[in-house]
Amino acid sequence: MDSAIRPLIAGNWKMNGVTQNLSQLEALTSGLVARAATCDVLICPPATLVRVAATTCADGPVLIGGQDCHFEKGGAHTGDISADMLVDAGAKFVIVGHSERRADHHESSALVRTKAQAAQEAGLVPIICVGETQDEKLAGRALEIVTGQLTGSVPDIVEGGDIVIAYEPVWAIGTGMVPTSDDIANMHGAIRDWLAGRFGADGATIRILYGGSLKPSNADQILPLANVNGGLIGGASLKAEDLLGIIDAL
Ligand code: PGA
Repeated sequence: MDSAIRPLIAGNWKMNGVTQNLSQLEALTSGLVARAATCDVLICPPATLVRVAATTCADGPVLIGGQDCHFEKGGAHTGDISADMLVDAGAKFVIVGHSERRADHHESSALVRTKAQAAQEAGLVPIICVGETQDEKLAGRALEIVTGQLTGSVPDIVEGGDIVIAYEPVWAIGTGMVPTSDDIANMHGAIRDWLAGRFGADGATIRILYGGSLKPSNADQILPLANVNGGLIGGASLKAEDLLGIIDAL
């Protein structure tokens, strides 16, 4: 953890959550207020809940984001959602290039970059996800894959902290497996070097999140590591109690 950078704890609800789950946002808000938490907290619910979640969390400590956006502002794209629509619904952030979208929807890094740019133009902070698969890791290619994804996915123009990077080893997502602390610190250090090389002083202020089976029981080992500026959390973000347990590890 770098104390100069305000940490971000981001929950990704994925394709989970209906109206009754909004009670978790209320519980999360109460827990954060009671703790006077010193990090930013974001929940990215499914698109159907973004507006009502933003209304539920209005004026409170919980920020709301989307899980994906289209790269165009509008038009004939059945089923898609633009960055402007997310802003209109109350979102402040949007996840782009999650490995599940790269795999399920064949999203390339070039496409992810256009989505990140669309988010920036709309005034959203894109959380750009990168990470190697298990085969790539076993082949010793993790660093090459991650830097390749950064090169392809990160926009050319970045001002201050208007993007976030999430390092999520694909093999750690939803599996209960996590990399060693050394592996996480080394990869986050490499991502920091890449950002500093590309954006100079601005690169030193960009938050780098770790994601992949982050939970209350391992957060105190992962979140204090150098260049880990918070987490992107799937399963353990669905219950306020679990997410608060991770926040307590900060
Ligand atoms: P997980 O998911 O915490 O359930 O492993 C993380 C993610 O996919 O963002």
